[in-house]
Amino acid sequence: MRILVTAGPTREPIDAVRFISNRSSGKMGYALASEAAERGHQVVLISGPVSLPTPNVMRVKHVETAAEMLCAVQEELPACRALIMSAAVADWRPSQPVAEKLKKRCMADSLSLERTADILATVVDLKEDRIYVGFAAETGELLQEAQRKLEEKHLDLIVANDVSRSDSGFGTDTNQAVIISADGHRTDLPLMSKAALAAHILAWIESAADVA
Ligand code: PMT
Repeated sequence: MRILVTAGPTREPIDAVRFISNRSSGKMGYALASEAAERGHQVVLISGPVSLPTPNVMRVKHVETAAEMLCAVQEELPACRALIMSAAVADWRPSQPVAEKLKKRCMADSLSLERTADILATVVDLKEDRIYVGFAAETGELLQEAQRKLEEKHLDLIVANDVSRSDSGFGTDTNQAVIISADGHRTDLPLMSKAALAAHILAWIESAADVA
């Protein structure tokens, strides 16, 4: 099947040299893309700016901002059976980015923020029989927040990771996740490599696609 994976952070420009972003390294998303390709799927990877080798997948699209990531998802999704949103999309962006470098003394006056588009919420109309997998990156109330996002974002599966742990979440090679499906089934996974977690997620998607 064709699977669309998003990975890494987005960068929202403040001025010519500064941006708002987050600590996502892309490791989780790239592990998902590599694992899906190794299992024989056609993989389209939409990647924010990361420092990782390009995986051997059908197509990679590089983007910077949340708006660019949304456009790329909207272009690719119609031909895909599953979407895995592991990207850490910035939730806020400067409302008036400037082309030149701002003077330090002007920064506080110039910086006003607005929300970026929620990509999963925006593509809800394209869902049809597609399988949507989201992540919940939390520092507290992991299960409640994951359940809320699962329902609000109309997901089939949510992968909840506690990003306050030093061995889990942003930048690490390992992750500890709880996966919760829309039918209420919950699996608490132990700490494992991001590659191993990717295999669990892909196995779930494959069985969901078979029964759909
Ligand atoms: O990249 P690594 O260093 O390997 O780190 C992996 C990770 C911690 C980034 C990854 O495991 C993870 O948790 N990714 C989701 C991060 C996140 O943005 O979570 P959230 O709880 O804020 O968002 C919930 C879901 O909505 C996510 O699937 C997200 O991709 C999506 N979203 C968020 C904001 C937005 N504007 N549009 C979205 O679609």
